[in-house]
Amino acid sequence: MGADRQSHQVTVCEDGTTREMNMAWTKKDVLDMESLSAEEITLILDTADSLKEISHRPIKKVPPLRGKTVILFFHEPSTRTRVSFDIAAKRLSADSISISASTSSMVKGETLMDTAKNLEAMNPDIIVIRHSSSGAPHMLAQRLSASIINAGDGTHAHPTQALLDLMTVRERKGGFKNLRISIIGDISRSRVARSNIVGFTKMGAQVTVAGPLTMIPKGIESLGAVVAKDIDSAIEGADVIMMLRIQKERQQSFLFPTEREYAKRFGLSLSRVKRAKPDVLIMHPGPMNRGVEISPEVADGPFSVILDQVANGVAVRMAVLYLLGGGTRNAADH
Ligand code: CP
Repeated sequence: MGADRQSHQVTVCEDGTTREMNMAWTKKDVLDMESLSAEEITLILDTADSLKEISHRPIKKVPPLRGKTVILFFHEPSTRTRVSFDIAAKRLSADSISISASTSSMVKGETLMDTAKNLEAMNPDIIVIRHSSSGAPHMLAQRLSASIINAGDGTHAHPTQALLDLMTVRERKGGFKNLRISIIGDISRSRVARSNIVGFTKMGAQVTVAGPLTMIPKGIESLGAVVAKDIDSAIEGADVIMMLRIQKERQQSFLFPTEREYAKRFGLSLSRVKRAKPDVLIMHPGPMNRGVEISPEVADGPFSVILDQVANGVAVRMAVLYLLGGGTRNAADH
């Protein structure tokens, strides 16, 4: 974690009214859910709620980050995270610049740290980084004065994904206390699972995980999750079911016999959804392997909030950029 910033008061707007948040945003970086307190998470979600309506205005732009520079530095492929950070920065009037490993001088052998130092020499305010190595954003946060946002590092953390998932659940359920959240699939290789287990348990929900034994890491209980014996018992009475993608690109060896077998034993079908609460929410961080971890009827069905997650990704990333960028005034009023 990098050094903390000067504390400042943030004012947010909800449903047209203005109110003062009785807490100050002090963090320089957003790196993982472990380092955010429940109060900081609530502040981000409240700020995201107040900023969300900007995306529905005819002119989708407000000026709080005018003159700020945001670099989007993605070393791994991304659709949702990269585009939503770019849209979020632009809607707040920041200048955003995108670079990827394949189009940077890293292909000529420049190290991550040298690349980052050279980017910092151009004086950006915020660097959003996705990297295949766990801990890469933390290393930059310690050495650079720009704010660092972790957009996913290896199998470690994806905090803005967890924040948008929390926002989606809070919107539909009104809060988190005693909600039963089931996260199913490749828990071992999922930074989304790790960040969501930490985030949901911190906010008072109960998290159960399930998947093939080869995909459940030892000691996952230490993050606050309960390991279910199978997918059906994990789903029983769940308020939220979050299905995870089978990450073929991170698998060194085959951890399940075939995709067909995986779908049968661990995939979410309509008949399985019936075991959950009648108002269950079905979530998936994307990209989906349709017909493997989730059936198309469930992904596109009435319980699915998968596209709400994507829409909330813009609002949450606006909130994070706004808070790190020093937003001190009523964002939605601009
Ligand atoms: N959920 C998520 O991180 O999606 P992308 O890889 O498309 O950014």
